[in-house]
Amino acid sequence: MKLLITGGLGFIGSNFILKLLEKFPDYQITNLDDELYGSNHQNVLQVKNLNNYEFVKGNITDNSIVEKLVSKVDIVINFAAESHVDRSISNAKPFIDSNILGVFTILENIKKYKKKLVHISTDEVFGSLESESASEDYKLNPSSPYASSKASAELLINSYFKTYDCEVIITRCTNNYGPRQFPEKLIPKTIIRAELDKSIPVYGTGKNIRDWIFVDDHCSAIEMIIHKGTEGESYNISASNEIDNITIIEKILSFLGKPLDLINFVDDRPGHDFRYSLDSSKIRSLGWKPKTSFEEGIKKTIEWYQKNKLWWNDIDRNILTETPWK
Ligand SMILES: NC(=O)c1ccc[n+]([C@@H]2O[C@H](COP(=O)([O-])OP(=O)(O)OC[C@H]3O[C@@H](n4cnc5c(N)ncnc54)[C@H](O)[C@@H]3O)[C@@H](O)[C@H]2O)c1
Repeated sequence: MKLLITGGLGFIGSNFILKLLEKFPDYQITNLDDELYGSNHQNVLQVKNLNNYEFVKGNITDNSIVEKLVSKVDIVINFAAESHVDRSISNAKPFIDSNILGVFTILENIKKYKKKLVHISTDEVFGSLESESASEDYKLNPSSPYASSKASAELLINSYFKTYDCEVIITRCTNNYGPRQFPEKLIPKTIIRAELDKSIPVYGTGKNIRDWIFVDDHCSAIEMIIHKGTEGESYNISASNEIDNITIIEKILSFLGKPLDLINFVDDRPGHDFRYSLDSSKIRSLGWKPKTSFEEGIKKTIEWYQKNKLWWNDIDRNILTETPWK
């Protein structure tokens, strides 16, 4: 199978490429990424020199590059996106460009060359939930410009299925954690700042709840959708592991033997969703289930950041001093 993977220098895309090539060594992968701030070539070092792996620098809004690459593959897996809520609140424009116009560019070429698209979306499209878990047909109700850009892309994708009969599938996942996540996000930021004995910024009361999944489990779900998913459908992916932010931070500090007084409560983010939760029974009925417990996953993640100090030492320290996370 020939795959075009967009955003494969980022967190989830790079983990996906490594897992996929390990399991299917004859698959051919082209990784299209514009080397934006969250990208890192170190993430794909293991596969860089393989004959069946190719990196192309380019933007998914650039039709000439996207057309050339889409025409040559069987399937596109679209991970490329601006992914940080706080950045979308400061400046929504790059989110509209990458997350909506980029998807439009891919769709036009999927339509033209009759190729298949698996698009990676997010639980944030459903907005904040009280006690329920959103199933696939729950109403889209995004809060941030980031979530709205992802929801807009979903609507566009559905229209290409209904109007042009394009082979498209949407996956929506909950918050990921694991190796290679850019340290602007909650878990890597907490680990690294704690290692450096710096304060850990926490929005509001820290009671906001997210449903956490280890990145390898997200990757195995996408792999299942590539092989067994039905066109025109969407699939929610979740490990049913709801935890509030402060509990996660306390666990990390305890694992690292650092004092709780590193925690520093800061003003809440505007429009901060309180809780996300997905019902993932549809993908589970295909035979997928997560394998990694939170205790096991967080241990693996902390150990990865401890062993890979060079990876995060190279990252601009200003990222680590900003307050926000997703
Ligand atoms: N991280 C999560 O918890 C999470 C949860 C659910 C869904 N998602 C979705 O998964 C996908 C990947 O997320 P991530 O956390 O790996 O993000 P990331 O920010 O780590 O990586 C994104 C990658 O995409 C590239 N990119 C961005 N815009 C591009 C463009 N216009 N053209 C080419 N390359 C571009 C960047 O250079 C980067 O390498 C995103 O679509 C995101 O919405 C993420």
